[in-house]
Amino acid sequence: MDKQPSKATKLGINTRLAHGGYDPRDYHGFVNPPVVHASTVLFPDAETMASNKQKYTYATHGTPTTDALCRAIDELEGSVGTLLVPSGLVAVTLPLLAFLAPGDHLLMVDCCYGNTRHFCNTMLKQYGIEVEYYDPLIGAGIESLIKPNTRVVFTESPGSNTFEVQDIPAIVEKAHAAGAIVMMDNTWATPIYFKALDYGVDISIHAATKYPSGHSDILMGTVSANDKCFKKLDAAYTALGLCVGGDDAYQILRGLRTMGLRMERHAQNAIEIAKWLESQEGVIEVLHPALESHAGHALWKRDFCGAGGVFSIVINGGTKQAHAFLNALRIFGLGYSWGGYESLALHVHLGGRVITGKDYAGPVIRLQIGLEDTADLIADIENALAAMKAA
Ligand SMILES: Cc1ncc(COP(=O)(O)O)c(C=O)c1O
Repeated sequence: MDKQPSKATKLGINTRLAHGGYDPRDYHGFVNPPVVHASTVLFPDAETMASNKQKYTYATHGTPTTDALCRAIDELEGSVGTLLVPSGLVAVTLPLLAFLAPGDHLLMVDCCYGNTRHFCNTMLKQYGIEVEYYDPLIGAGIESLIKPNTRVVFTESPGSNTFEVQDIPAIVEKAHAAGAIVMMDNTWATPIYFKALDYGVDISIHAATKYPSGHSDILMGTVSANDKCFKKLDAAYTALGLCVGGDDAYQILRGLRTMGLRMERHAQNAIEIAKWLESQEGVIEVLHPALESHAGHALWKRDFCGAGGVFSIVINGGTKQAHAFLNALRIFGLGYSWGGYESLALHVHLGGRVITGKDYAGPVIRLQIGLEDTADLIADIENALAAMKAA
């Protein structure tokens, strides 16, 4: 499999990120597209209004600003259509709502994002959908879990917080053979480092809140689909009345222009720190797929062409030591989310997992590595490890 560039184009990734989605000649030569603030769009006459043929009809159905972002993402994903939603979580819930009906069976990876699990265990169960969690390492073994009513196999690789790598092509093959579709939360790698649709995934999901935004100031999700799935997905999007504002869409498009360079630095900083952490006393395990010591390293190397900048460590001790570590950090902030320019840390809670909440030998701490200088980040962690040992 040609990992990069995409089948669709021979241009390099940074060229596509810089120019995708918008042609300055379409708007008087201005380098960036206009930010259209809109609800109502006017029609020149009653006939045009009745014909339903005008390109823009109402802002929930798109504007030149949201279209520019959708096109840019389609070019990266190789998708036939992309939908913009108000958060990464909605990018997960929309396709599940679109493709599941009462009586259906959903196979959900056990290391999914925590709020994905919450949605499955509450809303989907309320609507009579059977949710079954599966082991992320199952690969082709997914076949044994597929039932006649399995409609969707949901993947997230690497897994949230614990970073298990899934064998996506093997899962896709078995799911498709049984007539089910495959969705993937691909937020960690972005379409730069994992081309989900090229690997047979039908619907690629991103929390654009993370790397596309890059600055911890916008919430957005994107859902990109292949030809087989886009129409149904779009129908649900329209029925639900989902949309995003022009300012936010503009900011995400702006973020895309530099995402390649930012990702490169996030990845470089993260692997340097992960390698350093492997030799630190008090660190039992480093959960980063790009490390050779990681159980999913071979699969990651086979399918991905880069790594995100968030990973976890397992530290010695209990909650007291985890809190001492976190409280001693000065550059790393304590906060949710990731993908922004600034480093963050949090104590991971694996409650609710049914397969992968395995007994780690100590607390799991997630580190989002930002764009700061690694010497400063390492000094900050060194200090936190000393506080942890003293606790
Ligand atoms: C893997 C993953 N998917 C989806 C989301 C949801 O994104 P948002 O915070 O924009 O709702 C997150 C948020 O942390 C995430 O980590």
